[in-house]
Amino acid sequence: MPILVTGGAGYIGSHTCVELLNQGYEVIVLDNFANSNPEALTRVEEITGKTMKAYHVDLLDRESVKEVFEQNKIESVIHFAGLKAVGESVSVPLYYYQNNITGTVILCEVMQEYGVKNLVFSSSATVYGTPDKVPIKEDSKLGATNPYGRTKQMIEEILRDVAFSDPSWSISLLRYFNPIGAHQSGRIGEDPNGIPNNLMPYISQVAIGKRQQLQVFGNDYPTKDGTGVRDYIHVVDLAIGHLRALEKVQSIKGIEAYNLGTGIGYSVLEMVETFRKVSGRPIPYELTDRRSGDISTCYADPAKARDELNWQAMRGIEQMCKDSWRWQYHNPNGYNKAFSKQNIRNDRNPVRYAAGFFNV
Ligand code: NAD
Ligand code: UD1
Repeated sequence: MPILVTGGAGYIGSHTCVELLNQGYEVIVLDNFANSNPEALTRVEEITGKTMKAYHVDLLDRESVKEVFEQNKIESVIHFAGLKAVGESVSVPLYYYQNNITGTVILCEVMQEYGVKNLVFSSSATVYGTPDKVPIKEDSKLGATNPYGRTKQMIEEILRDVAFSDPSWSISLLRYFNPIGAHQSGRIGEDPNGIPNNLMPYISQVAIGKRQQLQVFGNDYPTKDGTGVRDYIHVVDLAIGHLRALEKVQSIKGIEAYNLGTGIGYSVLEMVETFRKVSGRPIPYELTDRRSGDISTCYADPAKARDELNWQAMRGIEQMCKDSWRWQYHNPNGYNKAFSKQNIRNDRNPVRYAAGFFNV
């Protein structure tokens, strides 16, 4: 029976679709392409040699979401769809609350209506806010510090209430640390809009010559070299973590949160140096003030995912940088912009991109 992947055309979703298809799952994607391109789905099919159905649907459009459940006998849902830009969430919080929270509530209501109660949810290490201590365990106190992070924290609470009210639900809350890297084919990867906010896409764009230099936000943190420390995790390891979580929700009821990280922290300057080495390109940088809202150090204690999901990150930092660079090098402008988001949004007719692409 098929797995519904909301936000399946996005960065983490597309990599997860590859792993699902490779494992023989039937995959159905639901995405509004607000922050992605259908070309990613075509490439997922190309990488795997398998096909999947994709629906151009917004989660806020309840009737269309219902139609997807009506047309398919969905067994479980992996829910990536959401907006994720921290700065934007501060400027337009209601848009974030509406899209992320209302979207998730509608999804769960429709799931309940159709008796689908297995859910893997994309949460984030951002729910921990400023951690008391590292490595961070799942029972650390939560305290997101911006509207984006609060949408994740609130959704976690909503899902706990749902699981408590009806014990037939099975839910995994996956708290990702810092996903980077790309599929080793170099065909899918992260394709940020405009100026990247996150470190790795920024470094990649400096390496390819699209941006002049990196700004390193702060060198006075209490870390090994004064720059911020994070737990970077290869997106393919992360994708595989979703398969383990899926197996878990398919077999055991209840709700659990899991950290998906490596347990190792790297500083900004260590990342710059590793990227320089694997790409052979200079990465000029300047040291600037701290970025408001940043924390000093954040890395996971991933033991719970190891013990309960039988999952561990396997790919190291060089591999992460190598794969990010291969994607950037071969796709300097990301996905084929011929499939412009504007065209997709206005297109209400069923269109086939590669094997299957449907409007309801
Ligand atoms: P992404 O933006 O690449 O993918 C999200 C996808 O969801 C996009 O394809 C977008 O078009 C779609 N989407 C958004 N709102 C939608 C809606 N209302 N209806 C249908 N589709 C919608 O982001 P990503 O990096 O792949 O992240 C996936 C999930 O993981 C997100 O929920 C994000 O908040 C979470 N997350 C990401 C990171 C990270 O660093 N990338 C870290 C922690 C958590
Ligand atoms: C950011 C978000 C977080 C989100 C995560 C993954 C903020 C405050 N936090 O976290 O909510 O879950 O991305 O999407 O935006 N850095 C530079 N120069 C840059 C970019 C980053 O020095 O141009 C540094 C940062 O200060 C940090 C590290 O690189 O020390 C990683 O930054 P980033 O990739 O943005 O991730 P987070 O800050 O962990």
